[in-house]
Amino acid sequence: MNQWFDEIEVFKSSSTLKERVEALGEQIERDYLGKELVLIGILKGSFIFLADLCRIIDLPLSIDFIGLASYEGTQSTGIVRITSDLTQPIEGKHVLIVEDIIDTGQTMDFLLKNLRTRRPASLKVCSLLFKPSRNIVPITIDYLGFEIPDVFVVGYGLDFEGKYRNLSFLGVLKNG
Ligand code: IMP
Ligand code: MG
Repeated sequence: MNQWFDEIEVFKSSSTLKERVEALGEQIERDYLGKELVLIGILKGSFIFLADLCRIIDLPLSIDFIGLASYEGTQSTGIVRITSDLTQPIEGKHVLIVEDIIDTGQTMDFLLKNLRTRRPASLKVCSLLFKPSRNIVPITIDYLGFEIPDVFVVGYGLDFEGKYRNLSFLGVLKNG
């Protein structure tokens, strides 16, 4: 087997992730029973989490994606822009945003404000990870996978300089 990820330490194994994602999916299924649910994945980091989560939720839901990028110079500015918008209107729909990680909260704050103007019936947040120590903008996370310390995690969709998204587990860079 190719050990190209030797520099990574396992932070959450794929079985730990699977167990937590299943619990979240079952809770979402119960909460949205009988409602028209739209899952909105934030590109790119949420794609694996969303793919696993949506297959647990046994409801006739629909899925859309939004691409967001934040302008970053020497300091993170917190200015976020849409790089790829939703393909469908969300007016009157029950929207659940699916994100990989909430760090400062600036990305989610921007998205919540933007999506609220489109008049969904409800708007909630599901995030796999949350780093409370780095949070600046308070965000209500309705469904949370794990609260984590201030470490830089990769894998299961999350990247470092575009790499490591395809790891089946969550890892930490050893020399990071
Ligand atoms: P926020 O606006 O600071 O909350 O930033 C959230 C975004 O920063 C996430 O969607 C990730 O793309 C990125 N990010 C924050 N922490 C990490 C990490 O530990 N690993 C990989 N990406 C991260
Ligand atoms: Mg992201």
